[in-house]
Amino acid sequence: MKPSRGKLPLSIIAIVICIFAFVGVLYTEDTGSLSSAYLLNLTSTCPKQEDPINNSSDSAKVEEKTTTTSAEENDLNDIDEEEKVVFEPNKCNVVKGKWVFNSAAQSLYTDLTCPYLDKQVACVKNGRPDFDYRYWEWQPDECILPRFDPTTALEKLRGKRLMFVGDSLQRGQWQSFVCLVQSVIPAEKKSLRRGRSHSVFKAKEYNATVEFYWAPFLVESNSDLHIIGDPKKRILKVDSVNKHAKYWVGVDILVFNTYVWWMSGLKIKSLWGSFANGEEGFEELDATIAYRMGLKTWANWVDSTIDPNKTRVFFTTMSPTHMRSADWHNKKGIRCYNETRPVLKKGYWGSGSDRRMMNVVSSVVERMKVPVSFINITQISEHRIDGHTSVYTEHQGKVLTDEQKEDPQRYADCIHWCLPGVPDTWNQLFYSYL
Ligand SMILES: *[C@@H]1O[C@H](CO)[C@@H](O)[C@H](O)[C@H]1NC(C)=O
Ligand SMILES: *[C@@H]1O[C@H](CO)[C@@H](O)[C@H](O)[C@H]1NC(C)=O
Ligand SMILES: *[C@@H]1O[C@H](CO)[C@@H](O)[C@H](O)[C@H]1NC(C)=O
Ligand SMILES: *[C@@H]1O[C@H](CO)[C@@H](O)[C@H](O)[C@H]1NC(C)=O
Ligand SMILES: *[C@@H]1O[C@H](CO)[C@@H](O)[C@H](O)[C@H]1NC(C)=O
Ligand SMILES: *[C@@H]1O[C@H](CO)[C@@H](O)[C@H](O)[C@H]1NC(C)=O
Ligand SMILES: *[C@@H]1O[C@H](CO)[C@@H](O)[C@H](O)[C@H]1NC(C)=O
Repeated sequence: MKPSRGKLPLSIIAIVICIFAFVGVLYTEDTGSLSSAYLLNLTSTCPKQEDPINNSSDSAKVEEKTTTTSAEENDLNDIDEEEKVVFEPNKCNVVKGKWVFNSAAQSLYTDLTCPYLDKQVACVKNGRPDFDYRYWEWQPDECILPRFDPTTALEKLRGKRLMFVGDSLQRGQWQSFVCLVQSVIPAEKKSLRRGRSHSVFKAKEYNATVEFYWAPFLVESNSDLHIIGDPKKRILKVDSVNKHAKYWVGVDILVFNTYVWWMSGLKIKSLWGSFANGEEGFEELDATIAYRMGLKTWANWVDSTIDPNKTRVFFTTMSPTHMRSADWHNKKGIRCYNETRPVLKKGYWGSGSDRRMMNVVSSVVERMKVPVSFINITQISEHRIDGHTSVYTEHQGKVLTDEQKEDPQRYADCIHWCLPGVPDTWNQLFYSYL
């Protein structure tokens, strides 16, 4: 079952290259059309959606068809009462659970009421016609997850700086958090300053900030600010983090992530040491090895810089991509395009989340001095094939035209998530640890 170490099966490579093509496409907005032609060529090599699936377990389909029973809805109505029970995150395995449809669920914001959403994730504004994806709630088996209460969250952040650090998925989590808390703050008492790599939301009355810092690999690379579309040309300084990390000093709560940018399917051009040869001195390493080196650099920085009595550190695990509809037995599907219901099969896990990368993160974090809490979103989000931006997103800074929307093979984004949507649940988890 497991691929031998260092070698990926061809199909996985094809999938990750496709994933990468899309990440690249979405990131070329700053560099214009520089590399999109190249990337679109890559896209055309993506596996056909009609790929035969062998070990199809029929249970998934059966479960997918089960509509929400009134019993489930009744369960949900009881939540408010049971919420009074003190929630203890360490005693409850929140990743074991299920998505439950609740037609009465109300998001704290919409893409019209939250002024801070990027076009990239504002799906309804971009024309998404179906709404069910907003009404699913995550219900752990062992406990009741507290609802996100913006006033309590702000109270916990009073006088503090919270910073999300990482890639565009982390930016989505940051925007979700900002939208959730801003819903209780009047317009004149909040502000958002956007920067190229550092953006700051301020809640004035609370003297609190919710910030985002862009560092897609956490460590330094030649593709941080001026994004290089062609993954072959990217070079990572796997032992250098200070250029980014100087912005992390003095923050009270840090939330990191990094995953999808390492998954180009190619070897990672890695530099370390003094590299007297200049950038030509790189070594090409397998993704898991380069990832381990990069994360160790990050971990060393945290361990040597962070005072755990003053600063709390979190790490958001990999956000799954849904590039292969055969994973959930939709043979005619085009990635996540047109999906309007989650996969309800318990423990569902597709090909877009690499467990070996997850293991690298756990093994690095295990050996750190400073405690790092995981916001383990992977399993939860695996189910949510319906939650991605799909064609209700932007391309090179513009919302997709109707013509482009009709070409999902090329344009459907099954990496990023609509807001409001799945990242709100990530923040509900995060909130329960705050
Ligand atoms: C894309 O592929 C076409 C033929 O398949 C080729 O003519 C073109 O040069 C390629 N473009 C790039 C940027 O590689
Ligand atoms: C999967 O099924 C196809 C035909 O449907 C077959 O050619 C292929 O060998 C099968 N793969 C495995 C791993 O059994
Ligand atoms: C998957 O298919 C292969 C060959 O088609 C078979 O050997 C294997 O037992 C199957 N696994 C499951 C879980 O059905
Ligand atoms: C506001 O918070 C910052 C830390 O984020 C702190 O240094 C400063 O003293 C606080 N100001 C007030 C008026 O509480
Ligand atoms: C954190 O606080 C505890 C108890 O107050 C103290 O024993 C410990 O040395 C402190 N750790 C650091 C790194 O300051
Ligand atoms: C997507 O959904 C629309 C509307 O339900 C339908 O007309 C179209 O055929 C679907 N496309 C695919 C590829 O499933
Ligand atoms: C996250 O949860 C999954 C189960 O869904 C588990 O296999 C994995 O080890 C967890 N990851 C971390 C980093 O704790």
